[in-house]
Amino acid sequence: MDKLIVEGGNPLAGEVSISGAKNAALPILTAAILTEDALRIENVPELRDIATTCALLTQMGIWVRRPEPRVVELSAHALSNPLAPYDLVKTMRASILVLGPLVARCGEARVSLPGGCAIGLRPVDLHIKGLQAMGAEIDIDHGYIHARAKRLQGARIVLDLVTVTGTENLMMAASLAEGTTILENAAREPEVVDLAQCLQAMGARIKGAGTDVITIEGVERLHGATFKVMPDRIETGTFLVATAMTGGRVVLTDTRPDILDAVITKLRETGALIEAGNDAISICADTRPLAVGLRTAPYPAFPTDMQAQFVALNAIAEGTAIVTETIFENRFMHVQELRRLGAEIEVEGNTAVITGTPNLAGATVMATDLRASACLVLAGLVARGETVVDRIYHLDRGYQAIEAKLSALGARIRRAS
Ligand code: UD1
Repeated sequence: MDKLIVEGGNPLAGEVSISGAKNAALPILTAAILTEDALRIENVPELRDIATTCALLTQMGIWVRRPEPRVVELSAHALSNPLAPYDLVKTMRASILVLGPLVARCGEARVSLPGGCAIGLRPVDLHIKGLQAMGAEIDIDHGYIHARAKRLQGARIVLDLVTVTGTENLMMAASLAEGTTILENAAREPEVVDLAQCLQAMGARIKGAGTDVITIEGVERLHGATFKVMPDRIETGTFLVATAMTGGRVVLTDTRPDILDAVITKLRETGALIEAGNDAISICADTRPLAVGLRTAPYPAFPTDMQAQFVALNAIAEGTAIVTETIFENRFMHVQELRRLGAEIEVEGNTAVITGTPNLAGATVMATDLRASACLVLAGLVARGETVVDRIYHLDRGYQAIEAKLSALGARIRRAS
């Protein structure tokens, strides 16, 4: 079952509940490595990347249980194999998140070096340099990062680039280090804050998460905790864009408007009416959207994980938009596929110029990565006739029950093999 068939033309209407954030749940699950006690994580989305992380932790000897939907309980008291093998890392680059916690807790880690991926090279040099600054000895051999440290030492680390998982990896490692670690030029993403809050609930001493300087005072041991994962801001943004594109009226619940400022601002520029409550957002769009230019950058600026969806929106908007991608060097793979639906898009380097046309027509298109596949589904919702989005397994990495949620809002969408 790896295709989605979308028949365009129905405006979305109704209410949709947003799932827990994948990019917060992944590091939080790996934080279980840091303690011998049990960790109970709630609001975990049901996704392929979550299953991959659970498999990765299980093969290390960590006890992982899913007692009810959206809850994962972990206990790393019997962690015996501090290894992240190639087979798992190749399917999910975020597996690198086990590196810091493993060295901190076990004094050793072997983690397969992630290769390039569809959206770019995505090196992990900053994760490695940060751990070296904390005293870890690191060799790279046979495609594996081999890290060792009796006990990591606190250090002042200035990250060359803003890296989300790099910040998370080092924050986790520093929680059990001896002394104080200061991470400068740290990522300010809300998922970093969520992880910091989970670590704090486990007894970590962290200050400044959400700013670009995070201070972590290492402790001897961390303890168990119960923690609820924040809502997924990218899933939220994707449903908002879907509604703006189809000209619908939708209320999104169980979400957080306060972490979506850049996205909501851009959607308002398209002409959509948006009202934000505490944990709900309502959107009403009854005309063709206006084109909106944007430039991706680290939080709180416009997220790269929403770029493809806005390219789809601009493809049917009134006017011309310039979209610049500054985070990943090859993140316009969706453009070629959108063109197959009739979109008018030119790409020059890291910039796409999109001239909106109201007349997309269904075709078979191929998903190349997670957010690209979301963009193709959105285009399918407004294209004339049937759009077949092939290789939809990419979508299952990051969107829980997307076809069920879209169908409940009135979209004509089904899965086929
Ligand atoms: C995370 C998110 C991903 C999002 C991205 C940017 C998770 C699990 N994934 O990915 O959805 O698209 O942030 O918001 O949270 N870089 C280096 N060296 C490093 C690390 C990063 O050069 O050691 C570069 C990357 O190639 C990229 C940029 O820094 O160009 C930002 O990447 P980074 O923030 O690390 O992305 P991820 O954490 O992998």
